[in-house]
Amino acid sequence: MNQNKTVLVFGSTGQQGGAVAKALRTNGWSVRAFVRQLGGAKAKALEAIGVGLHQGTFSDFSSIEKAMSGAYGVFSVQPSSGQGAHGISDEQELRYGKAIADIATAQGVQHLVYTSVAAAGKGKTGLGHFDSKTQIEDHIRRLGINSTIVRPVTFMEMLLLPGMGLEQGTFRFFMRPNQKMQFIAVDDIGKIVASVFAYPERFSGRTIEIAGDEITGNGLQEAFSRAGRKTITYQRFPDSLLQQNALLGRLAELVDDGRCAGVADINALRSEFGCLMTVEQWLAGAGKPLLRAALRAPAAAVALR
Ligand SMILES: NC(=O)c1ccc[n+]([C@@H]2O[C@H](COP(=O)([O-])OP(=O)(O)OC[C@H]3O[C@@H](n4cnc5c(N)ncnc54)[C@H](OP(=O)(O)O)[C@@H]3O)[C@@H](O)[C@H]2O)c1
Repeated sequence: MNQNKTVLVFGSTGQQGGAVAKALRTNGWSVRAFVRQLGGAKAKALEAIGVGLHQGTFSDFSSIEKAMSGAYGVFSVQPSSGQGAHGISDEQELRYGKAIADIATAQGVQHLVYTSVAAAGKGKTGLGHFDSKTQIEDHIRRLGINSTIVRPVTFMEMLLLPGMGLEQGTFRFFMRPNQKMQFIAVDDIGKIVASVFAYPERFSGRTIEIAGDEITGNGLQEAFSRAGRKTITYQRFPDSLLQQNALLGRLAELVDDGRCAGVADINALRSEFGCLMTVEQWLAGAGKPLLRAALRAPAAAVALR
């Protein structure tokens, strides 16, 4: 049934959009990817699973209009200033996120799914790339388009970025050893969003906090040690680092006050969306090669999204 309906997926050469494009194809949708480069390896991999490509860039709104023509649904994601050199400014994120929603409304798109962040909608955070998402969410709700907003917690993939100390046998992150934090595998974002598109009557108008697992620092220590077959110890980022680095310091405060730790009801999500990966399950699957690489990686500065 879905084959006759096209979903335009932004960011499909990236993590969330890539997972969404794949999951939609698996569920039989016709998928159109909005890509900057037609000939790139990631664009070709999308074509190989039957995704149609449309070339464009966020700053060229006419390319967005053309790509959206005739689309039933739109998945909207923007990079952010939290991604450092790979990101965009908070002003750009806000402008692009609003423009995609405006164009979708003008073109009569029947279901817009916007991916935000766990910290959004819970009061001003003081971090531009979180507060931008609260503003984009508010804008979408004001437009009155049929829409669903998902708010993912920290991706499991983030745990294995270079610079967290795994290569030296000590993993460092934001939570205290006995403090819980929620995580989600990027593939599960794809799975959830594909369900959202499949059941618009159930999900339209909702804002859904999404996570697949909740785990303490000590829990990560056990999971990494088991999966990596070596002893890994867990420590919170040292206070000196959190004081020196304003972004990391603020993120740690937001983990402490719960906004970045996540408030998703994981049991309820499992009954709505089926099995969602725990960190252990993810480390046995998609996370396995990432863990291997992280254990070998040369020490590097912390890079966050
Ligand atoms: N990391 C986390 O734990 C986490 C948790 C919750 C929310 N978030 C939010 O997730 C968002 C990032 O999502 P992601 O990790 O899926 O992104 P990503 O993997 O970095 O992918 C970004 C995508 O956007 C495309 N893109 C970048 N600039 C573009 C432009 N000017 N025009 C058109 N396309 C452009 C990229 O295309 P190219 O391939 O051409 O570069 C790529 O497909 C951020 O807003 C972040 O705040 C992250």
